[in-house]
Amino acid sequence: MDNLHKPVMVKEIIERIDFNNCNFFLDGTFGAGGHTNEILLRGSKVIGLDNYKKAESIALKNKTINKKFDFYQSNFKDIDKVIKKNRITDKFDGVLLDLGFSSNQLQDNDVGLSFKNDVPLKMNYADYEISAYDILNDYSEEKLEKIFSEYGEISNSKKLAKFIITYRKTNEIKSTFDFIELLKKSRVNFGSNRINFATKPFQALRIEANNELENLKIFLVKIKQFLNNNALIFIISFHSLEDRIVKNHFKNYSLKRDLTFQDNQVWGYEILTKRPITADRDELKNNPRARSAKLRVARYKC
Ligand SMILES: C[S@@+](CC[C@H](N)C(=O)[O-])C[C@H]1O[C@@H](n2cnc3c(N)ncnc32)[C@H](O)[C@@H]1O
Repeated sequence: MDNLHKPVMVKEIIERIDFNNCNFFLDGTFGAGGHTNEILLRGSKVIGLDNYKKAESIALKNKTINKKFDFYQSNFKDIDKVIKKNRITDKFDGVLLDLGFSSNQLQDNDVGLSFKNDVPLKMNYADYEISAYDILNDYSEEKLEKIFSEYGEISNSKKLAKFIITYRKTNEIKSTFDFIELLKKSRVNFGSNRINFATKPFQALRIEANNELENLKIFLVKIKQFLNNNALIFIISFHSLEDRIVKNHFKNYSLKRDLTFQDNQVWGYEILTKRPITADRDELKNNPRARSAKLRVARYKC
């Protein structure tokens, strides 16, 4: 597979890592290896995870060039299982999640994330139980309304959910273009003129089909047990729901103002980014994906 993916905010991540003290790094969203490669180049050992099957072929190439790299095809929410199964005993000095999907996946018709191509409705990065097809053809009106409202931030999600229920009585919604046709017929106003009207409905389906927000929450709870003191945790998110989860998690477990632990805690995060970091002008010019990226960084203390 040709690699079309450009990694986001590499400079902002690399310049924050002290490579003299970063022996072991976890890239929980390996993708096309853009971030992993930069970290390997600076001498750290890296473990890459990705649940997308086709990430493995890119990873295997990496593995042959760099013996300090291991890849496991896995959901990052299962980090504890990966560690146990592979008998990994070292803890991490740095962790990165660069959330969402890669440009490679956007071009991959087997995944079906793009509204530019007419392909079967799946939207799964891995083989999940629920696909976009199942959501549209089986979910109740209440559930549809909830996902379009919460994950798509569509103000008239009630009207859209109602319309889907009526529409599917006589039509099977099989492909991305069937869904676009439905969106047009629904006469729901999808708001912004800046983005394609299908962007938000597609986002809602993708988040639900991949259980994206739950995975992130589970990972954040699990990861702390695998971190060394002073480990840095970097999270790049691409929409406000993810960013809010990260922000609140760091805040809930933050150190006090004087950098001591909160009551009853023996660990905590020093928040290094009060506001999320965004890509600089140069990067925005060269990589449109970077436009919505927000990076938060925290230091783990125990
Ligand atoms: C934005 S891309 C990462 C790109 C990568 N940082 C690079 O520079 O090439 C996000 C990747 O995370 C993967 N991903 C998303 N959710 C995941 C999860 N829960 N577990 C593992 N991988 C996941 C996707 O399959 C995708 O390959």
